[in-house]
Amino acid sequence: MQRSVHLTVLLSVPLALLFLVAMSQPSVLHYGYIGCFVDGDNSNRDLKGLTGLKTIGPFTDKINLAYFFNVATVTIESCSSLCALGRFRYFGLQAQGFCFCGNSYGAYGAAANSDCQELCVGNSSQICGGPNRNSIYKNFYAPETGLFKRVASTKSMLTTAPGQPENSTYRSQEATVAFECLAACRHSPDCLACAFVQSSRMCRLMRFAAVPSEVASEAQWVWVKP
Ligand SMILES: *[C@@H]1O[C@H](CO)[C@@H](O)[C@H](O)[C@H]1NC(C)=O
Ligand SMILES: *[C@@H]1O[C@H](CO)[C@@H](O)[C@H](O)[C@H]1NC(C)=O
Repeated sequence: MQRSVHLTVLLSVPLALLFLVAMSQPSVLHYGYIGCFVDGDNSNRDLKGLTGLKTIGPFTDKINLAYFFNVATVTIESCSSLCALGRFRYFGLQAQGFCFCGNSYGAYGAAANSDCQELCVGNSSQICGGPNRNSIYKNFYAPETGLFKRVASTKSMLTTAPGQPENSTYRSQEATVAFECLAACRHSPDCLACAFVQSSRMCRLMRFAAVPSEVASEAQWVWVKP
């Protein structure tokens, strides 16, 4: 019963929405500063959400196999947008130019406010943490509407770093029809987009609102949660 309601909702998505070329990311309403926090080392970062990624959306990491993105233009806004691609609740800025994402923070405790006073490389009017210290922020999102947008998956928007398994950014389960795949994604908080592969009857449940290259090559369409 609940499923047929969802199906009706999906079918009523205006046609115009069905052919968006660009993937959309969950929209950030605003972000708020939480405080300065201690980080762990490379093998145990406080915020691990970007582990294994090389590129996502417009962002490319300069360092492989880490937990963060190191881009030349890090600002509070760009780190917020980057982390929105995974609908992460928190983001952290460190040592002038590192951006971290995660759904929790503080495993290593709070730091003195004076520990976070390095200026961001992308905007010298902003503070981007300190050595081994994160300026932690929270992203606030518009509530999910429950509607999915179908987009052509012709362009890969996410690649993994060398040595990382490509499927680390999504998980798979069997599905007989596309709708079953959508329902599975809808009920998984960590699923931001999904793709149904007709030939293998597999459902790819993605952790980011960006298409991994492996999925782009096997599925024609991707459904993105708003
Ligand atoms: C730099 O940061 C300041 C303070 O957050 C902000 O007012 C300004 O708009 C930013 N500049 C750019 C170019 O984004
Ligand atoms: C990724 O693929 C490998 C090999 O096919 C498999 O062993 C592993 O469980 C997969 N990981 C995930 C997260 O699906």
